[in-house]
Amino acid sequence: MNKAAVIGSGTMGNGIAQVVATAGYNVTLVDLKKEYLNRGMETIQKNLDRAVKKEKLEDKEKKEILNRINTTTEYENIKEVNIVIEAVPENIEIKKEVFKELDKVLNQDVIIASNTSALSLTELATVTSRPEKVLGIHFFNPVTVMKLVELIKNIITSQDTYDRAKKFVASLNKTAVEVNESPGFVVNRLLIPMINEAIFLVEENVACPDDIDTAMKLGANHPLGPLALADLVGLDVCLAIMETLHKEFGDSKYRASTLLRKKVRAGQLGRKTGEGFYQY
Ligand SMILES: NC(=O)c1ccc[n+]([C@@H]2O[C@H](COP(=O)([O-])OP(=O)(O)OC[C@H]3O[C@@H](n4cnc5c(N)ncnc54)[C@H](O)[C@@H]3O)[C@@H](O)[C@H]2O)c1
Repeated sequence: MNKAAVIGSGTMGNGIAQVVATAGYNVTLVDLKKEYLNRGMETIQKNLDRAVKKEKLEDKEKKEILNRINTTTEYENIKEVNIVIEAVPENIEIKKEVFKELDKVLNQDVIIASNTSALSLTELATVTSRPEKVLGIHFFNPVTVMKLVELIKNIITSQDTYDRAKKFVASLNKTAVEVNESPGFVVNRLLIPMINEAIFLVEENVACPDDIDTAMKLGANHPLGPLALADLVGLDVCLAIMETLHKEFGDSKYRASTLLRKKVRAGQLGRKTGEGFYQY
């Protein structure tokens, strides 16, 4: 198993491609347009340049990693890969379409994984002809830094698929935790409602973003405050996760804050658009 494909070259996709290529795999990055792929590759290049500057990586290694990453807009070009990680937007309909396309072109033994933050892996698995080979391989942002991967079994995922995925994750030098599918899995079930609650605090004028973040950094020892974290994750992604939790559990404790909705409607999505709770 030495060839991987990553679908979507955005915040997560380019990070996943970098980590997988660094571990020695040949990676094909797929996106809708060449310009999106170029943007993803620029981010990877910048990250690697920074690592070289900090003397964490040799210039020769950087070139080798970059040489192992190809880009394409055509699914036809990933026929030969052994594992695929999907990282397209957090929208079940978009993901289902991607899974159907992947299922058509890939060999029957290829694992199709999703980096979804909260959606049902079982729902994605059942649009393919290989539901037992579908699971969640959930990386955290920034992928190059965060050690954790949640390995999420849908209710049909086979033990063999899980074991192969676990080996793959270990080869990336990440730590896996085993999770049985449930909305938001473990981390986002805990984390995103906390971020949403911090946004309620802003909305209710209880404290300003900077003070809320300082409070959680100094009072709860969090490395990043919840609002800075929301900007890093992307407010659209946070809203999508809250909506999944709300819809799936039917519990009002998961309702999204109105301010979060307004900011997403205004296109203030955080770091990726230059403005969220802070300016970038
Ligand atoms: N942002 C985070 O902190 C974070 C963390 C963990 C998991 N996730 C999950 O990872 C996934 C991707 O999130 P992101 O933040 O990288 O999103 P993003 O919007 O930054 O990137 C998504 C990319 O997918 C591409 N895309 C859209 N439709 C496509 C298609 N049909 N085929 C190929 N590419 C397509 C887009 O052009 C874009 O480049 C989501 O499921 C999200 O919930 C996000």
